[in-house]
Amino acid sequence: MNLRQRFGRPLRLGLVGGGPDSWIGAMHRNAAEMDGYFRCTAGVFSGDPQRSRAAGVALGFDAARSYGTVAEMLQAERERRSGDGIEAVAIMTPNDTHYAHAAAALDVGLDVVCDKPVTHSHAEACDLVARVRANGRLFAIAHAYSAYPMTRFARHLVGEGALGAVRLVQVEYIQSGLATRVEAGPRSNRLRWVLDPGRSGQALVMSAIGCHAQHLASFVSGLPVARAMADVGTLMPGREVVDHVSALIEFAAGADGHAARGTFTVTQAAAGGENDIRLRVYGDKGHIDWNHRDASYLKLALQGEPVRVLGRGDPGLPPEVIAAGRTPRGHPEGLREAFANLYAEIAQERMALLLGEPAPSFPYPRIEDGAHTMAFIEACLASQRAGRWVAVAASAG
Ligand SMILES: NC(=O)c1ccc[n+]([C@@H]2O[C@H](COP(=O)([O-])OP(=O)(O)OC[C@H]3O[C@@H](n4cnc5c(N)ncnc54)[C@H](O)[C@@H]3O)[C@@H](O)[C@H]2O)c1
Repeated sequence: MNLRQRFGRPLRLGLVGGGPDSWIGAMHRNAAEMDGYFRCTAGVFSGDPQRSRAAGVALGFDAARSYGTVAEMLQAERERRSGDGIEAVAIMTPNDTHYAHAAAALDVGLDVVCDKPVTHSHAEACDLVARVRANGRLFAIAHAYSAYPMTRFARHLVGEGALGAVRLVQVEYIQSGLATRVEAGPRSNRLRWVLDPGRSGQALVMSAIGCHAQHLASFVSGLPVARAMADVGTLMPGREVVDHVSALIEFAAGADGHAARGTFTVTQAAAGGENDIRLRVYGDKGHIDWNHRDASYLKLALQGEPVRVLGRGDPGLPPEVIAAGRTPRGHPEGLREAFANLYAEIAQERMALLLGEPAPSFPYPRIEDGAHTMAFIEACLASQRAGRWVAVAASAG
């Protein structure tokens, strides 16, 4: 019997954000329930209490559990006489609200799945690290690109030394959402907060995609970023929000005392770009090359050997990589399944703890990773201001 079967039921999840009009709401709802680890049982779906209640009903939630505010949900769910209140929350609201919602949920003893950027500042993220630890909670961040089977396999290859010592990491995330002057057109609810730097974060492109790129690079290489020399600004002339960051990065020194170098490029202003994520990790024995357009495949090139392309579900992959897929090889899987892997992992950890079993150690992104990402973003901005290399701050917690 697997953990889910031994536990006997899904965990109960409260949603924060993700109304019918949102981009990412359905992704979270479907992913949370995909493998039966969570059931979405309650939620707050708008900053406007009346709209929130109506949105919950429209999405098929029980009217009594479609709340007007997060405070109301946390209190009512805790006081349910039947003892079947929510056990975790998933936060997918505009960026400026993540910290307050996450802190409130942790303080009433709930686990948290939070979308990125986890907070607005490194200091807030460190505060969440402390709250997670003080309350004995679990915290996952929705960096789903690192939960694809083949990015997991890439990390495995680096970890077992197949590439040798890591020397160079190249990561890029290229999009076209800001390739036209969207500021000049009509503003949807989404665009209103996205184009307001006070709401979307210290640098829009870093809140939107740069955080994913840094997390993926550190996740696969196993290396935190030690310092950065960044060019932060706009490709579109006259734009107020940041649509481009390129940086030289230096990672923490590896076992041989030598620090791997890296290049980092993210922009949302690349005309014709789709969701083009590419990661290359070069070691002294060979390299891997992963491309989001071909997410189910990983190129492995070892020095002096023919190049190999390995696919999701191929024989011989480690069991934890096989487990990150659901359908037989050749059937496309994608972002939704990767999101579901994050939900499955945090749920299994909580289920094991509740059953009194040893907790499995899954590599889903945790609050400590989010704090490092916020420190990296702040280092890039400080580097731009100072015109020099800036160290990435250590995260207190
Ligand atoms: N992990 C990913 O790949 C990924 C992709 C897209 C978006 N996101 C993140 O998800 C979050 C939401 O992005 P989106 O594009 O879906 O935004 P959106 O504007 O489309 O949707 C936001 C939703 O939150 C609701 N909301 C607003 N304020 C609220 C409040 N105080 N309480 C409860 N609900 C509230 C809105 O009614 C809306 O339904 C952002 O933090 C974004 O960075 C992550």
